[in-house]
Amino acid sequence: MSILILGGTGFIGPHMVREALRRGHEVSLFNRGRTNSELFPDLKLFKGDRNSGLQSLEGGKWDVVVDNSGYVPRQVEDSARLLSSVVSHYLYVSTLSVYAVSPAPITEASPLATMEDESGEEVTGETYGPMKALCEQRVMAMLGADRTTVLRPTYICGPGDRTDRYTYWPVRTMRGGEMLWPGTPTDDIQIIDVRDFANFTVDCLEQKIVGTFNTVTPMRSFKMGDLLQDSMAVTGADMTPVWVDKEFISENEVAEGGGLPIWEHPDGEYAALSSVDGSRAAAAGLKNRPTKETARDTLSWWKNLPADRSDKLRAGLSADKEAELLRLWHQQNA
Ligand SMILES: NC(=O)c1ccc[n+]([C@@H]2O[C@H](COP(=O)([O-])OP(=O)(O)OC[C@H]3O[C@@H](n4cnc5c(N)ncnc54)[C@H](OP(=O)(O)O)[C@@H]3O)[C@@H](O)[C@H]2O)c1
Repeated sequence: MSILILGGTGFIGPHMVREALRRGHEVSLFNRGRTNSELFPDLKLFKGDRNSGLQSLEGGKWDVVVDNSGYVPRQVEDSARLLSSVVSHYLYVSTLSVYAVSPAPITEASPLATMEDESGEEVTGETYGPMKALCEQRVMAMLGADRTTVLRPTYICGPGDRTDRYTYWPVRTMRGGEMLWPGTPTDDIQIIDVRDFANFTVDCLEQKIVGTFNTVTPMRSFKMGDLLQDSMAVTGADMTPVWVDKEFISENEVAEGGGLPIWEHPDGEYAALSSVDGSRAAAAGLKNRPTKETARDTLSWWKNLPADRSDKLRAGLSADKEAELLRLWHQQNA
């Protein structure tokens, strides 16, 4: 197949590119040439900005398109319109953030988040989800349900992750000493390894799997205690976990601002994001590797990063904040 990837040089894109090439497909990219532009010198690049025009794509011909870089409904509608007469299949990478706050479990039929002004184009923490939901709808409207795949991933993690939300846990474990762990070891969490996501993406293209799919680790299969075990196993660190209960976390606003990434407070607004039904994708062929492999490969990627990238984690508690919280916790529980 000839595959056009809108994006392709950030985090998930390169994994998709490599998997598609490994399976013998031909890949072209569309992006501005700003992010990791040195990555794929041998691939054809259609240079352009989704904001200001898709001219470089006009007259092109591909079998399928993967849209990784669509956040604004107008932009996604423009690309879907242009490509609808060119490709047989449009795969849109969406997100679990499309769901409105709703009771667990979340299935593909759960209600979607909405926004008052649908013409708004500013992507913020508030508008990201509803805008991605609108983007999904625009692709469906342009291509039709029999030519559209929508993937709704949870936290994507693994080598290359630029957010450090999952990476925080094994990397912090490696530092050793007392470490704050939120809630209980049996609290459910869900992730998706970027390589599993990339594999499923290419499966969808090859087998023309259409429809909408939550892409997550199986519900209730992965818990905070497993994340701890994985982190201990791959680091061999001398770390002592201190499990801090959810009441302490609420009282001290520890989870605010992403201080405890991946874990969802069981009484919080986003609790249902740890109970997402991924059985539809599993039935269509999504396979999740053992989470220990994700921890191992994330850590070895991290260890090889240049010092100016790895000297500070982009998510999780700072060392000072964690020490302060642990002091307080011990004081209250002496
Ligand atoms: N990371 C997660 O945990 C997570 C979770 C759920 C969903 N998602 C979804 O995953 C996708 C993002 O993944 P990624 O960043 O790893 O994707 P990616 O495809 O690897 O990287 C983003 C790409 O988009 C290009 N790009 C950005 N702005 C552009 C513009 N205005 N015009 C043209 N190209 C543009 C960038 O290149 P240039 O800068 O060179 O243009 C880059 O190649 C999004 O759809 C996001 O909603 C991510």
